[in-house]
Amino acid sequence: MGLPERAIIIAYPNNPQESVSAGTTSTCTAAMAFTLFQSTLFSKPSLFSHRRSFAFCIQFSSFSTASAFPSDQFHHHKKWRQPVASVLELGGVKIAKDEIVRDDPTNNVPDSIFSKLGLQLHRRDQHPLGILKNAIYDYFDTNYPNKFDKFDDLCPIVSTKANFDDVLVPADHVSRSYNDTYYVDSETVLRCHTSAHQAELLRGGHTHFLVTGDVYRRDSIDSTHYPVFHQMEGVRVFTPADWEASGADATTYAAEDLKKCLEGLARHLFGGVEMRWIDTYFPFTNPSFELEIYFQDDWLEVLGCGVMEQEILKRSDRVDNVAWAFGLGLERLAMVLFDIPDIRLFWSTDERFTSQFSKGQLGIKFKPFSKYPPCYKDMSFWISDSFTENNLCEVVRGIAGDLVEEVKLIDNFTNKKGMTSHCYRIAYRSMERSLMDEEINDLQWKVRDQVETKLKVVLR
Ligand code: DAH
Repeated sequence: MGLPERAIIIAYPNNPQESVSAGTTSTCTAAMAFTLFQSTLFSKPSLFSHRRSFAFCIQFSSFSTASAFPSDQFHHHKKWRQPVASVLELGGVKIAKDEIVRDDPTNNVPDSIFSKLGLQLHRRDQHPLGILKNAIYDYFDTNYPNKFDKFDDLCPIVSTKANFDDVLVPADHVSRSYNDTYYVDSETVLRCHTSAHQAELLRGGHTHFLVTGDVYRRDSIDSTHYPVFHQMEGVRVFTPADWEASGADATTYAAEDLKKCLEGLARHLFGGVEMRWIDTYFPFTNPSFELEIYFQDDWLEVLGCGVMEQEILKRSDRVDNVAWAFGLGLERLAMVLFDIPDIRLFWSTDERFTSQFSKGQLGIKFKPFSKYPPCYKDMSFWISDSFTENNLCEVVRGIAGDLVEEVKLIDNFTNKKGMTSHCYRIAYRSMERSLMDEEINDLQWKVRDQVETKLKVVLR
């Protein structure tokens, strides 16, 4: 969706305050025991992908340097947060809130994120995400009867090993930073992609599987980005017997099978559309591709995929095998398929939203019940060295919740003394009602106050 490609920064916390501490608490072990076992596919390139076929310059924008957001700062001003449940049932295990949201420098999970854990929108048959998940299941069930094992309630709290190491994400990769990922402690995260389950399921003997789940990423705010979204991962393993008969080498065989499978899936979801394959890079696959379809006058990135890195198979004792894998973002596809204009709507409990969808009905187009006017507020400040846009967005989201529609940098300059000023425009808009001036002003004052105290910037 034609926004400019966004910056990717390879950075890792490296000052003592920002770096992860080696000492972990018992919660870590507990949380890790719960794990059984883009991609930000939105307007920005996936966190994990680098496209190869287009002239693609990874720009480093000045405002998205990675840095920690010391979690103790989150625990002031709690009175503005919505109350959240204190115990969750996740993946069959009970998790107390204080295991996930803690006043600890290695923890950066705010209440607003904790309150999303366990909601599992993708498991609701009447919800657009559940309807889409089921439509994808139907495709696999029809074309590969009884082949693919399906997982949609694996615990989203995973080890850094599962989330990063097991899928070969390099030690200095941006996605590991505290600026991009929610850490429960230094060795436990809220999964930032469903690829986090690949290795464990392979080790458990699964050779054909689909994993659907909620994933978590610290990010900027606009109509297609939300810090919690949903992905589906697919993996298929082949044995030598599969490719030997074909005469093709293992990798070519897997890549061709992958493309055929996913082109069929795209046709199943979108009908007879034009498609193209883009070479790209993911740490976990080689070769790697993205599938795009031509839909409503634009090329739309549908998913990322590739032939699984041999090292991943080797580590699960499958040296003789070859496999393909893919990952797709459910919101991105559902927004297009159901005509849903804003990603916040997926979380709406307003009946005017929820009543429009029914089990098994993929074709339904959402009719906006009303378009309430946005209200814009600008805010300028001198940034500090540790300022990041993701931290700003978290502060704004923590105060305004789903009333914030967009946070956009509209001015950026550095003066002769080397001080950098940013001006952000915040768009407030409810999906469900008109907002009163007084309410917005109140929110904006709180935002200004917290931005100054938590982000150490100087308001202008
Ligand atoms: N994990 C990737 C992301 O979140 C998506 C992805 C790409 C998954 C390629 C895969 C894959 O399994 O092969 O950006």
